[in-house]
Amino acid sequence: MTTAFITGAGVRVGSAVARALGQAGYDLALHANRSAESVRALAEEFEALGRRVTVHTADLSRPEAVDALGAEVRAAHPALDVVVHNAGLYAAVPFGAITRAQYQTMVGVNLDAPFFLTQALLPSLRAGMSPLVVHLTDIAGERPVGGYAHYSVSKAGLIMLTRALAVELAPHVRVNAISPGTVAFPEDFDAAAREDTLRRIPLGREGRVEDVARAVLFLARDAPYVTGQVLAVDGGRSAQL
Ligand SMILES: NC(=O)c1ccc[n+]([C@@H]2O[C@H](COP(=O)([O-])OP(=O)(O)OC[C@H]3O[C@@H](n4cnc5c(N)ncnc54)[C@H](OP(=O)(O)O)[C@@H]3O)[C@@H](O)[C@H]2O)c1
Repeated sequence: MTTAFITGAGVRVGSAVARALGQAGYDLALHANRSAESVRALAEEFEALGRRVTVHTADLSRPEAVDALGAEVRAAHPALDVVVHNAGLYAAVPFGAITRAQYQTMVGVNLDAPFFLTQALLPSLRAGMSPLVVHLTDIAGERPVGGYAHYSVSKAGLIMLTRALAVELAPHVRVNAISPGTVAFPEDFDAAAREDTLRRIPLGREGRVEDVARAVLFLARDAPYVTGQVLAVDGGRSAQL
């Protein structure tokens, strides 16, 4: 049996990734914070298909909750084959107004949590078959957008963590990142801003959550010689000035 652990599995990208891995036959460890109800519904759906599914809740902005989550998942799954660090915070704040608390929460959820969760899960990863860690980064981790300094810094750190761990955890554990561009506009997204964004995407459409899920499946199943890489899933947006 192969098992995948996905953080932030209750909504949008994380839910699509969990669903794709469950459909591909993986047993699942699903994490949520506020979306625990939808993760439980997903768990029931895949248990009915014969998968073993565990559900874990934690606020990843709290270091002690990250440590507890790591210990809990490691105990429940002595072997892990795929770990997807999907949970993330996204917020625009002008640089001059970012408080220390806002900075620490952003970096805590987006960078520190993946860092220390992977550390806690190392024994399980080392026991997995061809194990893979995936970080959900952002094309803004390499080319910043004004107004998102603390977010961009957190994702840039996650890109370096991808490369650092790919080197340090080789040859058994592969570590890669997926950098979405714009995936699934929020419903309240301003119409003019939406048009402006779409004009910048060579493939002419926003990303679908399934586009990201398919990239995770590709890394998990079809890319055994790929590690330390950042795969942009952005319709070509980062390819042009
Ligand atoms: N969508 C895009 O266009 C896009 C673009 C670039 C990068 N990304 C990256 O792709 C990932 C998924 O994106 P998304 O749009 O699906 O995200 P989203 O809709 O904003 O959902 C955020 C996810 O992160 C979890 N989360 C947030 N704060 C948390 C906390 N304090 N503790 C635990 N979990 C927390 C949420 O869990 P709960 O709901 O359970 O609280 C939720 O599952 C993120 O890492 C994001 O930065 C997305």
